[in-house]
Order: sequence, then structure tokens, then C-alpha cells
Amino acid sequence: MNYNTEIVKIDSRLIKPNLIKQLKNTQALIKGGQFLRQGEVVAFPTETVYGLGADATDSKAVNRIFEAKGRPQDNPLIVHVSKIKQVQEIISGGMTATVRKLIKAFWPGPLTLIFPVSDRIPRITTAGLDTVAVRMPQHPVALALIECARVPLAAPSANSSGYPSPTLAQHVYHDLKGKIPLIIDGGQCQIGLESTVIDVRDIKPVILRPGGVTREELEVVLGSVIENRIAVDKRETPSAPGMKYRHYSPVTPLQLIERNDPGKIEQIVKKTGKKIALVVTDETAGGLKDIRRDTIIKMGSRKNPEEIAQQIFSILRKLDQEDYDLILVEKLEPQGLAEAIMNRLHKAATNSIYF
Ligand code: TXA
Ligand code: MG
Repeated sequence: MNYNTEIVKIDSRLIKPNLIKQLKNTQALIKGGQFLRQGEVVAFPTETVYGLGADATDSKAVNRIFEAKGRPQDNPLIVHVSKIKQVQEIISGGMTATVRKLIKAFWPGPLTLIFPVSDRIPRITTAGLDTVAVRMPQHPVALALIECARVPLAAPSANSSGYPSPTLAQHVYHDLKGKIPLIIDGGQCQIGLESTVIDVRDIKPVILRPGGVTREELEVVLGSVIENRIAVDKRETPSAPGMKYRHYSPVTPLQLIERNDPGKIEQIVKKTGKKIALVVTDETAGGLKDIRRDTIIKMGSRKNPEEIAQQIFSILRKLDQEDYDLILVEKLEPQGLAEAIMNRLHKAATNSIYF
């Protein structure tokens, strides 16, 4: 199907937690709700990244998500709810004490939980798994849209499969123009990286994907150390051994460089003789003396990973529009939110090609 993709902007003054009722009466949300109830897909802002939503209980609607994104059918979707009551309909069995604790601490917000799935959710949504990933987003537009749709929404990030996730409505338009009927524009996403996916069905909690809620924050609530980073990659794309798919990658090759070594960075840039965009922390940028300023892109301060998270996908997308042979990105210490940033950057990176 070829759509005339419409972008409808939300007045930023309405994007407040206590204004969901007013939001539901805006043109954008009324239209969004109608499309979703008719089995169409709609792109919408969340606090993490833009999502591409469809009725999670309707297999035809969910199939449209896979088609628009070009997403492999063995990669399951997260189901988004606006009320706790909705969770009971889509999971099988009750909630454990641990789940309740996590929900109390982090919902609405960037935490996705894994549950045994109920038969209300079709197989396509969970890619045939017997579990379902569920999250209650914090963004008022996302919550209002779920209410307008009157059903839980399956929603992956609203990018073309494999490309960096969208944090602006324009990013969604770039990737999905003509493939979806509506983009609700709520401005820039606050966090800029996807939710943390955690499985607490077993006694040992496992982070399947690091994200907006940090390991450290989870450990405070769970009172235990969460293990096993290696499991992350294996579990994140089930039945996709060895990271079969490209993820978060710009078309321009991307390589990671060690932090805090301006001399070495200058050497690399000179040696390759390629047109290189250098994405570095503000601290490192300060130490680079011998490099064209317009090829240095500051991603934010090392002391403020929140700032880096918010910008990183946007920076990669922008650089991809320019004429670079290579994007070099400085590595961060993988702590706090930087753990999620480094997870995405490692997946975005190609094997070393120039050094
Ligand atoms: O922040 C987010 O989570 C965003 C916004 C739109 O809410 N959504 C998002 O969805 O990032 P997506 O599809 O791009 O990533 C979903 C991740 C994938 O890594 C998928 O494999 C994993 O969640 N996932 C989904 N269902 C799962 C399940 N039942 N078991 C294990 N992993 C699952
Ligand atoms: Mg995604």
C-alpha cells in the first residue's frame, strides 16, 4: 500500500502528564485512534524513541508493522499499555512480587517486562514465543493514544529495520514515508534510547537489552546484582544466533575508538586518508588540536550520559546524510545510561575496516 504520509504536530504545551484528557481531543489523537481501530499503523512519540503502533491483538494490523519496517518476523514486539488492568488481559498467570516492585518503581517509564503470554495476543506479535514483552510508556501522547485506540499497542521503534532509532518525527518520515498513514509529532524524545528489557521470571533477573532504566537503578530496587551481559545479545533477537541482523547502523561505516586519547585519534584520522566524521565527548574535543573543526561532532559531556543518549541516534542519522567515508565514535565507560549507549554503538559498528 502506498500512503500519503501525514505528520500532525502536537502543541508542546499539551505534552504534560496531567493533560491526557485534553490530548485525547486533539486532531492528531482522534485521527490516530481511528486509524488504529481500523487496523492501521500509526507512528507516535514515547519518552524513549518514536514507536510504530498497531493493535497488538490484531494479527493483520501487526503484520503491517513488520511490512512497513522491513522487520524480520522472528523479532518479537513490545506491547504497550496505558493501565495496569490491561496487563492482566495479555499475560497468562499473575504478577510476582518482584514484578510488582519493578512496576511500582519504574512504570510508567522505560522498562519492559517479560511475562508468559495469554491467548489474546496473536503469535505474530510475540514472534511465536510463549512470552510477551510489556511496557507502560511515560509520554503523555503515547498514553493518550493507547486510550484512544482502546487496545494495547504493539510498537517497535519507528525506523526502517536496521537503521538508527528515530528520536524526531522527521526521522520517522525519512524512513517510512509512503509506508504508513500518520506520524504524530510530539517533538524530540527525552531519553533518546529504547527501554530496558528485563526478564524476572526466573530467580535470577536477566537484562535482555540495556536501556533507559539503568542496571544500577534496577539493582537498588531488586536488591541484587543483575548478571550476564552475554545473555543480552543472544536473547535480544531470539532464534537469531550471532546477531544475524544489522542494528542501529548508519549506511556510512562506523568504528569505535578508545576514549580520551586525542593524539592517537589524530594519528588514525591522518593515516586512513579518508573523509572522517569524529564523534567525541566534549572533553576529548577540547584536546584535538590538529583536526578540521567542522569534522568534529561533540556528543556531549562524559559526565552527562543523558545528554549523549538523547543525541546519539540523531547525530548518526545526520552524518549519514553527509558525504563521509567513515564515522568514528569515541567509546564511553559502560556505566549508568552509558551501558545502553555502548550497547547500541557496538551493534552499529562494522568490523574494523580501516585500522
Ligand atoms: O523504548 C522502547 O522499548 C521502544 C518504544 C517504541 O517503546 N520500542 C522498542 O521496540 O525499542 P523494538 O521492537 O525496537 O525492540 C524490542 C526489543 C527487541 O530487542 C525484541 O527482541 C525484544 O524487545 N523482545 C520483544 N519481545 C520479547 C520477548 N517476548 N522476549 C524477549 N525479548 C523480546
Ligand atoms: Mg528497534
